[in-house]
Amino acid sequence: MYSKREEFLWGVATAAYQIEGAWNEDGKDESIWDRFVHTPGNVADGTTGDIACDHYHRMEEDVALLKELGVNAYRFSISWPRVLPQGRGKVNEKGVDFYRRLLDKLKENHIHAVVTLYHWDLPQALQDTGGWKNPESVFAFQEYAHLVFSRFGQDVDLWITHNEPWVVAFVGHYEGRHPPGERDFATALCVSRHLLLSHGHAVKIFRGENLKTPIGIALNLSPIHPFSHDQEDREAAYRFDGYLNRWFLDPLFRGQFPQDMLDWYAQKGFAVLPLQEEESRLISQPIDFLGINYYTRHIIKRGSQSLLESEGVRLSNREYSDTGWEVYPEGLRELIVRLTQDYAPFAIYITENGFAYPDVLEDDGRIRDAKRIVYLSQHLRELTQAMEQGYPVRGYFVWSIMDNFEWNAGFSKRFGLAYVDYHTLRRIPKESFFWYREFCTRKKTIMT
Ligand code: FCB
Repeated sequence: MYSKREEFLWGVATAAYQIEGAWNEDGKDESIWDRFVHTPGNVADGTTGDIACDHYHRMEEDVALLKELGVNAYRFSISWPRVLPQGRGKVNEKGVDFYRRLLDKLKENHIHAVVTLYHWDLPQALQDTGGWKNPESVFAFQEYAHLVFSRFGQDVDLWITHNEPWVVAFVGHYEGRHPPGERDFATALCVSRHLLLSHGHAVKIFRGENLKTPIGIALNLSPIHPFSHDQEDREAAYRFDGYLNRWFLDPLFRGQFPQDMLDWYAQKGFAVLPLQEEESRLISQPIDFLGINYYTRHIIKRGSQSLLESEGVRLSNREYSDTGWEVYPEGLRELIVRLTQDYAPFAIYITENGFAYPDVLEDDGRIRDAKRIVYLSQHLRELTQAMEQGYPVRGYFVWSIMDNFEWNAGFSKRFGLAYVDYHTLRRIPKESFFWYREFCTRKKTIMT
């Protein structure tokens, strides 16, 4: 069993809704994503994750692909409504069985399992009673976590409670681009508090089960740079940092929301109650690692329109990916340094890093994704340097093993090391797949 001091993890990541498909099979009930994608206009290309990569039926083939890639870790998420169709109560044994078979296959192939409890697919039944804005959701998550720990506790090597709670709270409840599609800032703030509390409860239950493997959380974090040296731009950048990064980091590592943000929101008419002592203790209890999903940085200047009075800037001389995210490899090391200095996590895992590109399957059957290789190698260089400087990084995961359903962008964005032909569902390794295989093999021999 993997322990806190062991082997560096070189892996790839996925999420249930993005790859599994089988959205209403074998007892699985609807999630908020199922509901959202079935509403016209919500997904850019009008597609759904009903079938996605059909991983539910092709799981063995996919584990074989992981084996071929040569990674020693695989990060995936459990679909809550697959194991608890109504969110609470009756367990769907067929759903549990799917993950049991996956875990067994991974073990058979000597691939460490990294499991995310919540990668955004809340059971619709829970949304029907208010979802994450209902304080009851915290207790529902507790029950779900307990079920998953008790069934799979012995076979998972690393646990992640939440994936990117910022996205759940603000993209789902303020920007409305993700389900439940709400556009209310006060709701988003309330949801962020409940997500943090549910994380705390899950960690507490985990410790109570006496499980010895590491547990942590994965946040989407970015360096925030001011557009200019002007005081107003610098203040706007710091505010955006408070919104995106510190709003979750501070409670998790210091037990309180950042005061400057509490003040700012209050001044804008959104008073947030500071965390009470018990809440604070629960949320900031020690975790074994911080997971960082890193894709890009943000350049921010002062703006008058938004609630934050800040505005993102796009530079003409920089490279941007197909999702419009700036390629900024230096940001990875910058983040690792900053997080270690400011929050001193026990360990850091880069739980996601990757590049979207409109890859083309050429006539000779190859996918020449040279830009992705450059992206990955530059980020891995930064990572290696941070490690050489003694920063506590313990693993790295490429998003993703294969192209998949990119949320509200549908199938229009390809992030995979393997290309998925959505007509035949064939997985075809891209050049980056072979490149990463080489890289992992070399690193694994140096670093064990
Ligand atoms: C992250 C998500 C992941 C994937 C990548 C591209 O924000 O965690 O599911 O969509 O972006």
